[in-house]
Amino acid sequence: MKSYSGMSGINMSETPLRLAVLLSGNGSNLQALIDAIESKQLPGVEIALVVSNNPNAYGLQRALKHALPAIYLPWGPANVPQKTEMSENETRLTSLLRLFQVDFIVLAGWMRILSAPFLEQFPRRVINLHPALLPNDGTGSTYTTKDGTEIPVFRGLRAARQALDAGIKVTGSTIHYVTPEVDAGPVICREEVVIESEDTEESLHERVKVVEHRLIVEAVRKLNRRDAITEHLPYDKITEH
Ligand code: GRF
Repeated sequence: MKSYSGMSGINMSETPLRLAVLLSGNGSNLQALIDAIESKQLPGVEIALVVSNNPNAYGLQRALKHALPAIYLPWGPANVPQKTEMSENETRLTSLLRLFQVDFIVLAGWMRILSAPFLEQFPRRVINLHPALLPNDGTGSTYTTKDGTEIPVFRGLRAARQALDAGIKVTGSTIHYVTPEVDAGPVICREEVVIESEDTEESLHERVKVVEHRLIVEAVRKLNRRDAITEHLPYDKITEH
């Protein structure tokens, strides 16, 4: 992976920032990135590789339609990663990422937990989309919305369902750095989404996704403009939405 630098915080490299997008399903967020790149909204960024642990993921089809390298990487069932060593799957994934000279990894609906040893290879280079609101540093069990209401933090699967079950009025979308603790890394971008009284899990998740599609493009744009790839960026230096 190449290093980026520049006093202005602009990506001074002449070669584009090469993204790997890891997914397990639909890939609508991959599509948002593809569309942004094709419509020149993300200058200096390209998708180097799409990886899916699911051979039937529609995201693979989306990638192929746009002539992007797309690979099914068999992974097996979800498991709790080892704390001290990478799994064989992660070793294979690492080889692929290096082979395709990936600079940055976007988890866009990737349904497998990555281990600390894997993540340590790519400090501040792995980001995730989470369909709920996370606190600035990613940790903690409550979040205060713009209107001052304290709501629980929903991590893990079916965050829209969790928000509906909690009876709260606002949820949202968060893009954050990935750390070994699931859905608990420092926040890059975040936006609230109002929960309507008639919302179902599906309708709410769909509205959150509309926001995600914008936020993921914005997050990648920001990261490409800054020395965020090698630096530890405190949240307050990154604009909130
Ligand atoms: C998104 O809602 C994301 O927040 C979550 O998984 C979903 C993936 O959607 N992590 P898609 O596959 O990009 O349509």
